[in-house]
Amino acid sequence: MASEQAGAAQVLVASNRGPVTYSLGADGTLDAKRGGGGLVSGLSAVGDEADALWVCAALGEGDREAVRRGVGEPGVRMLDIDADVHAAAYNGVANSVLWFVHHMLYQTPLEPAFGPEFRAQWAAYETYNRAFADALAGEAAPGAAVLVQDYHLALVPGMLRELRPDLRIGHFSHTPWAPVDYFRLLPDDIAEQLLRGMLGADRLGFLTGRWADAFTACCVAVLGGTSGTRIGVHGLGADADFLRERARRADVEERLAALREQIGPDRKVIVRVDRTELSKNIVRGLRAYEQLLADRPEWRGRVVHVAFAYPSRQDLAVYRDYTTEVSRVADAINSAYGTEGWTPVVLHVKDDFARSLAAYRLADVALVNPIRDGMNLVAKEVPVVSDEGCVLVLSREAGAHEELSEDALTVNPYDVSATSVALHEALLMPPAERAERTKRLAAAATALPPTQWFLDQLQALTTP
Ligand code: F6P
Repeated sequence: MASEQAGAAQVLVASNRGPVTYSLGADGTLDAKRGGGGLVSGLSAVGDEADALWVCAALGEGDREAVRRGVGEPGVRMLDIDADVHAAAYNGVANSVLWFVHHMLYQTPLEPAFGPEFRAQWAAYETYNRAFADALAGEAAPGAAVLVQDYHLALVPGMLRELRPDLRIGHFSHTPWAPVDYFRLLPDDIAEQLLRGMLGADRLGFLTGRWADAFTACCVAVLGGTSGTRIGVHGLGADADFLRERARRADVEERLAALREQIGPDRKVIVRVDRTELSKNIVRGLRAYEQLLADRPEWRGRVVHVAFAYPSRQDLAVYRDYTTEVSRVADAINSAYGTEGWTPVVLHVKDDFARSLAAYRLADVALVNPIRDGMNLVAKEVPVVSDEGCVLVLSREAGAHEELSEDALTVNPYDVSATSVALHEALLMPPAERAERTKRLAAAATALPPTQWFLDQLQALTTP
């Protein structure tokens, strides 16, 4: 039974970050920047006929101003949620607690704190989820399909189910899911609320079987079962067509030339590209490289570590401190080992997609060593655009490892020494083997392109 408030959209996506963001110029002009990524290309595959709508949060002053002025893209609705509510929900709950639980990042002195401040943030998280549920309920046509994304919006399925029992509701987790004992760090009532919120969906999607199983185990331990909610696995792949075309454009060529210049001739290149965030394990990656230089002096002057670490979630001290630590360790390596004509670590912190693609193209080795990661698309993108083949050193805790383990060099992300040895082996791999492995990695990495990934979920949701 559809509610009286039903809208016209047949397919809806809900996520914290939307496909477009606005910046407000000093002269009052609004500048729109469209995002890329799997969801954007997936939703565009649905087409206009299906009356698709993307509901997202207004994230900064530019977005809020766009909402106030009624500026927007067709098919996108931004919610102007109170800035304090959004900050408490996004920074306080989503990125300080849920992110830490699912990525198992707590360690002294980063301890969970569930006092009054957290309870106030939790109330904001509920309000923020409620804003999404209300907007979706108002926009969805009778019987429409709604695909809710990620840990920011875990309560939305349950709230929406109450408002609109006629809808088909899916939820997709882009993160890992915590093992039972770790998940139960959360206060019992909140653990229960999160699981019940998600189980309000008809179908839940995860990036790997491992995360889906962990979720099921949490439901069994906390609630006694999954109450009949269907659970599926959709391993998002890299978008080969887009990447190959994009990586050959003039701006990438320019950056390739600049990077080559900076690296110097006849040197091997170890590349990493990440948002600067604790789960990515950038500092241990730098330490592993430092150990390589210490243990195997033959590499000094013959290798450069190109590390792109793009600041993220800088409203939170723990992320800011980590960003500072990354720069400090990179500088220390350069001071200890650098010479007149050789800079061992080239660190860039300004987000530049064209430069990332250029680095993917010239990498001899890609280092992807997260402590835990839902998937990690860098691991899948590098082999697709690599010019001459690239050895992938990959954490066994990245979701992508399930699909790429045969041709990557696997590392335990905590084991700095073993990572250092893996880097050495990667640098020594003969070109023919490297090229063969890269070819197989690229095939595995592109097995489920974003458009198909999205359409598969939609189909699974709408097929009882
Ligand atoms: O991995 C989970 C996720 O929400 C991704 O979907 C996204 O790429 C990333 O985190 C971005 O985080 P934020 O929106 O906080 O910058």
